[in-house]
Amino acid sequence: MFRYLPEQASTFAPDVDWIHNWITDISVFFTFAIFGAAILFAILWRRKGGKDHSTPQILGDHRLETIWTVVPTLIVIFIAVEGIVVHKEMRTPPENAIPISVTAQQFAWNFEYPNGKKTTNELTVPVGEPVRFSMRSKDVIHSFFIPAMRVKNDVLPSMFSSVWFEPVKTGTYQGFCTEYCGAGHSTMLFKVNVVSRAEYDRWVDDNSKEFMMTRMSAEDKGRELYVSKTCNTCHSIDGSPRVGPSFAKLWHKKEKLSDGTEVLIDENYIENSIVNPQVQVVDGFAPVMPAFEGQVTVDEIKALIAYIKSLEKTEVAPAATQAAAVVAPADLSKLTPEERGKLLTEQKACIACHSLDGSKLVGPSFKGAYGRKEKLADGSTITVDDAYIKNSILDPVSQIVEGFAPAMPPFQGQLDDDQIGDIISYMKTFK
Ligand code: CUA
Repeated sequence: MFRYLPEQASTFAPDVDWIHNWITDISVFFTFAIFGAAILFAILWRRKGGKDHSTPQILGDHRLETIWTVVPTLIVIFIAVEGIVVHKEMRTPPENAIPISVTAQQFAWNFEYPNGKKTTNELTVPVGEPVRFSMRSKDVIHSFFIPAMRVKNDVLPSMFSSVWFEPVKTGTYQGFCTEYCGAGHSTMLFKVNVVSRAEYDRWVDDNSKEFMMTRMSAEDKGRELYVSKTCNTCHSIDGSPRVGPSFAKLWHKKEKLSDGTEVLIDENYIENSIVNPQVQVVDGFAPVMPAFEGQVTVDEIKALIAYIKSLEKTEVAPAATQAAAVVAPADLSKLTPEERGKLLTEQKACIACHSLDGSKLVGPSFKGAYGRKEKLADGSTITVDDAYIKNSILDPVSQIVEGFAPAMPPFQGQLDDDQIGDIISYMKTFK
């Protein structure tokens, strides 16, 4: 009677359902018994033959009193004990349970597996093994609910909560947020895939880029691309200027372009600047970015836009910190040429493209550069000496080292001979 519970997909389900059904049955039984008796007595002792009859005075019955006190008491004690036993089991995860971290936010579920794999709104667990969820909310109270597993627990912003279950059959089940958490509450759903152990192992270890990318949010994908496409060499995310404008607070900013017009940084501007960067160059920056036409997909462009949008709220370092490298001219004379060279490479952002540790960025590293023999793009060989460095600063594209793009802007008119000398002295310190 009244068996309306969902599919039983965890080891808890039979216990939970048994006690739930028992309570339901006994409630239905007594409801019918009490209402049935009331109706029956009303019929039996109704007014008959058009005249009233007197009601007998009953002054109590100890047997009856005892029965209707003791029987219900035993029933509720039984329910309480059974409830405590099942609840205790549900609160005590086995030692070997697979730990999965759950982060709820308006309006999504984020899962993180022991090996660091992350998914959103999709949970995959192996059949026949206990899994434990350590849960925390980023914002308001949510509630983690998988009816088929018979688990339901609030997810709080102030403290961790946890549930565990052991799925008993493979399949796909529906998970819900079951605490009203805002306008998107009804869309805060997640899928639970219960798969075989082998399938789970294959799935959880599949960290291939393609696989991860299909599961990442656009913003996370953009963050990944920002590094993999080496945008980070020329565009900072902390507000500091490098070869190109910083991505921090760039979204919906009005920028002045080199042709004097003003542009609003929106989706189309960002897409154009990736695909065909030379067309709309922000004033004060050199037109040095290579075109990514044909090298990025629409999805990747969308992801980068999402990432740039997410940097809208970044704390930008105050101008004072950014200009920390600028020292008053009087002090400069007290510095050694090497120290002045170091300041210049920071101010002119040389170090955005030239590493100091030998790693390859946009341009050759300064480490060991001085005195080295380099093969140029035109096939000739030169020695990196004062004359080559000076020429490479003033007119960089005329002598490009093989294997590098002609991406460096010319510094003609921006550095005098003394400053170039200081930079050379500084470079000589990187043997
Ligand atoms: Cu989250 Cu409702």
